[in-house]
Amino acid sequence: MIVAIDGPAGAGKSTVAKLLAEKLRFLYIDTGAMYRALTLKAIETGVSFSDINGLILLAQSTQLRLEKANINSETIILLDGRNVSEEIRLPEVTNSVFHLAGISQVRKLMVHWQREYGVGNDIVMEGRDIGTVVFPEAEKKVYLDASVNIRAKRRYEELKVKNMDINMDDLIVQIKDRDYKDKSRFCGPLKMAQDAFYLDSSVLCIEEVVNRIFAYVKS
Ligand code: C5P
Repeated sequence: MIVAIDGPAGAGKSTVAKLLAEKLRFLYIDTGAMYRALTLKAIETGVSFSDINGLILLAQSTQLRLEKANINSETIILLDGRNVSEEIRLPEVTNSVFHLAGISQVRKLMVHWQREYGVGNDIVMEGRDIGTVVFPEAEKKVYLDASVNIRAKRRYEELKVKNMDINMDDLIVQIKDRDYKDKSRFCGPLKMAQDAFYLDSSVLCIEEVVNRIFAYVKS
């Protein structure tokens, strides 16, 4: 079975998808981590974000793997064999992912790799285009949403724990900007699949969100 979870940044997809996958005993696939890892490689190797052919070549010559070190551990992402799970969360990466995510040849390659995870596996896959492009035939699709203010507040709390200095107004601007870029891109834009189950997590706790999606998947 394939459970596709899409939605904007900060709606809680990763946390929810991880818990849901554990509950269902499915494999959890974070497709955002894949776009992030490619972006990290572009930054590290100095390929300019305006060099479209260079970025396509970079993607074609990259090996990405999502793995669990053991059954109870977090999924890690390996970029050409190197664990980059921490680095891909750096703001520098977050703010630059849209470049690679907007290139159709890069997306085609990503979609191909992502579909391979669905072969012979029960999966929970989260991203932006999973229910619309990667697995339009998925048995279960969820669109997880939340208001901009709530998403900014959640992000603020996360960053505060990491002692990072940022204010709410800046976060709101950043989130709106990411929404715009995700929704307006020509290929693989963020949009709700017609047959998706829509859930607004703004006023729900994580457990409630997981329970509602679990009930939907089992229905
Ligand atoms: O989910 P996450 O915030 O880690 O994703 C980072 C970025 O990767 C998104 O803002 C989007 O630009 C891109 N992405 C995408 N398609 C996906 C997953 C992520 O374009 N399926």
